Amino acid sequence: MDLFEYQARDIFEKHGVPVLAAAIATTADEAEKAATTIGGKVVVKAQVKVGGRGKAGGVKLAENPHDAREKAGAILGMDIKGHTVRTVMIAAAAPIEAEYYLSILLDRSNRTFLVMASVSGGMDIEEVAHTAPEKLAKIPVSAVDGISLAKAQEIVAAAAFPADVTDQVAQVLLKLWDVFQGEDATLVEVNPLVKTNDGKIIALDGKVTLDENADFRQPDHQSLVDQDAENPLEAAAKAKGLNYVKLDGQVGIIGNGAGLVMSTLDVVAYAGEKHGGVRPANFLDIGGGASAQIMADGLSIILEDPDVKSVFVNVFGGITACDAVASGIVQALELLGPKATKPIVVRLDGNNVVEGRAILAKAAHPLVEQADTMDGAANRAAELAAK
Ligand SMILES: Nc1ncnc2c1ncn2[C@@H]1O[C@H](COP(=O)(O)OP(=O)(O)OP(=O)(O)O)[C@@H](O)[C@H]1O
Ligand SMILES: [Mg+2]
Repeated sequence: MDLFEYQARDIFEKHGVPVLAAAIATTADEAEKAATTIGGKVVVKAQVKVGGRGKAGGVKLAENPHDAREKAGAILGMDIKGHTVRTVMIAAAAPIEAEYYLSILLDRSNRTFLVMASVSGGMDIEEVAHTAPEKLAKIPVSAVDGISLAKAQEIVAAAAFPADVTDQVAQVLLKLWDVFQGEDATLVEVNPLVKTNDGKIIALDGKVTLDENADFRQPDHQSLVDQDAENPLEAAAKAKGLNYVKLDGQVGIIGNGAGLVMSTLDVVAYAGEKHGGVRPANFLDIGGGASAQIMADGLSIILEDPDVKSVFVNVFGGITACDAVASGIVQALELLGPKATKPIVVRLDGNNVVEGRAILAKAAHPLVEQADTMDGAANRAAELAAK
């Protein structure tokens, strides 16, 4: 999960990374009030999860609260690379003497963490990385050792930070490592890290990506989710512990096991070509233990999607045998009652397939059709969706 700058700033503050006073606002009025509280010159910054805000006109200096009001009025509602600005951050303006760059990230291809550091930070860092890569120091950091003071000093030396700031930058690196490790982040980036004209080092901008696989041990991160941006069906599925991704087609898909669901998406897309370009409406993996409740939860999420015209349940019985899955489908339809309104094509195979098919045949639910093969089922589901 990517965070907004103001969320990154708050996390930095919590871990002792030096930041400036700031507040968020969603109206020009609030922006003026925030600027009054902060006092002096402020910077009005668009809060969107995309880089290059400054170049797009989303970061503006304001001389006083009245000016902050006007700048916020102009920035709120602005479109930056497809993201609408709904919130601005009002931050104290720093007297900048130099702009540096620091980041810690997960380097998947080398199976290590990596620190990148440069004394040529700021809005042109991408350009620097491209045209003068020697100005961007890259230092691997082992997950076991992390960033010790000695490692921080090594990084500061490799990037050739000026002597008057080396100690402060090393301390910031230790704190950023604390953020990275303590918050289970996969990216912590500060651009720019600035030296002010009185020699202080401050993080002026922050980008943080949190590892959602660690959510179980980071209960506080729940409150950082951007509710406005989340797809309501995906949010509902997440709350029920389902592995669901909304897509833009018309055939709802339920399968057990991520690999099977992926191939189901493929066969449906392929079959759909013969039926006017019908496509899968979602990815939903109900996992190994497909109980009636999980099946009901999955079906109800899919049936609530107004784009869905038909559903394809594709299950390969393993540890959870086909008869248990078939009973699950029957019970799920009982639980859903009149909420089940769309045709459902079921293909069962694997462990106890004969018993499973017999259970569905006996229940004879008017919406349920069985198919013998995956291709046959995909074709039928696509045909029903195209009707
Ligand atoms: N609080 C501040 N005080 C003074 N100047 C600031 C402040 N915040 C940002 N700036 C200036 O505005 C520039 C752009 O701001 P910032 O880095 O936050 O946005 P950005 O363009 O989205 O960054 P990026 O390109 O890293 O995504 C900074 O490089 C800095 O020169
Ligand atoms: Mg920046």
